[in-house]
Amino acid sequence: DTRLLHNDPQGIEAAATILRAGGLVAFGTETVYGLGADARNDRAVAAIYTAKGRPGINPLISHFVSADAAFEQVAASPLARRLAARFWPGPLTLVLPRAEECAISTIATAGLPTAGVRVPAGATTQALLAACGFPVVAPSANPSGRVSPSDAQHVLAGLDGRIDAVLDCGPCRVGVESTIVDLSGERPVLLRPGGITLEALEDACGAPLVTPAGSNDINPSAPGQLSSHYAPGLPVRLDADTVASDEALLAFGSELPGSPLVWNLSRTADLHEAAARLFAGLRFLDMEGRRRGLVRIAVQHVPGHGLGRAIRDRLIRAASPRP
Ligand code: TXA
Ligand code: MG
Repeated sequence: DTRLLHNDPQGIEAAATILRAGGLVAFGTETVYGLGADARNDRAVAAIYTAKGRPGINPLISHFVSADAAFEQVAASPLARRLAARFWPGPLTLVLPRAEECAISTIATAGLPTAGVRVPAGATTQALLAACGFPVVAPSANPSGRVSPSDAQHVLAGLDGRIDAVLDCGPCRVGVESTIVDLSGERPVLLRPGGITLEALEDACGAPLVTPAGSNDINPSAPGQLSSHYAPGLPVRLDADTVASDEALLAFGSELPGSPLVWNLSRTADLHEAAARLFAGLRFLDMEGRRRGLVRIAVQHVPGHGLGRAIRDRLIRAASPRP
């Protein structure tokens, strides 16, 4: 069965030992919980795809203790170094050409000539990566297509019995996944909005990013960013300005009247608070709403600037038609 490891030196060492031996350990980052494996180990990497039910065409992000460690595995441009210096450790993933001597399993990069790399923040996450001393691949620790986990219990709800352990790192501070920027082409491209805002990135780049038709609509841009994703069991209705008595309500700011079940992302309409409460809210409304026989989750409008871009992206995917 899946072991729950505590956030202390023994727990961290136990997690590193399992990863070293080719096992799967979920751990918290500042964004969401990731399902970790030794990035160099083909078998361990393949086991991630099996545990999540993830399509093999969808590449994984490798996590490093430092930018220096990351840039041993990928070819870093001056712009990559600038963004790393500004935003790492933090919720930014850079897609860069694999280095000639890249140790990351080609299964993890789905056969692509590029690799997604990031240096996550958080004392426990950093301690785990330091104890490992090798790159750790980690997709979000949820069954493929479902809502991402922002605490250890969420991980167990989806993957108990399918992975070796969860390192309990407490709730995730940011709450939405990393922003992904592809730096392998001529101009930087935003593949996924996330915890670093587009505004902050454009400021750091000194130029606008390419945002493929809808980093904020339903066109998937990163390979495997399937349009239906983050899907709760109940259907989701966006930008509601009224709510029915058989709908759960995901509120933002002042709550619409009429729903028997409400989760407010942020009463003060604070986008940071809303991001941190997003996945827990979707999970709560889905579970409790189904238990009470409600038919849908209505979502109040969230503005599309700053962190709202990532929040809206996740909500649009949660509301997309299911395959
Ligand atoms: O915040 C995060 O990024 C979390 C934590 C655990 O680090 N991880 C995460 O992983 O969100 P995942 O697998 O759920 O999403 C990774 C995304 C996928 O959409 C994948 O297509 C994209 O990253 N990706 C990874 N490598 C890529 C590459 N070489 N080129 C383009 N997209 C890539
Ligand atoms: Mg994911």
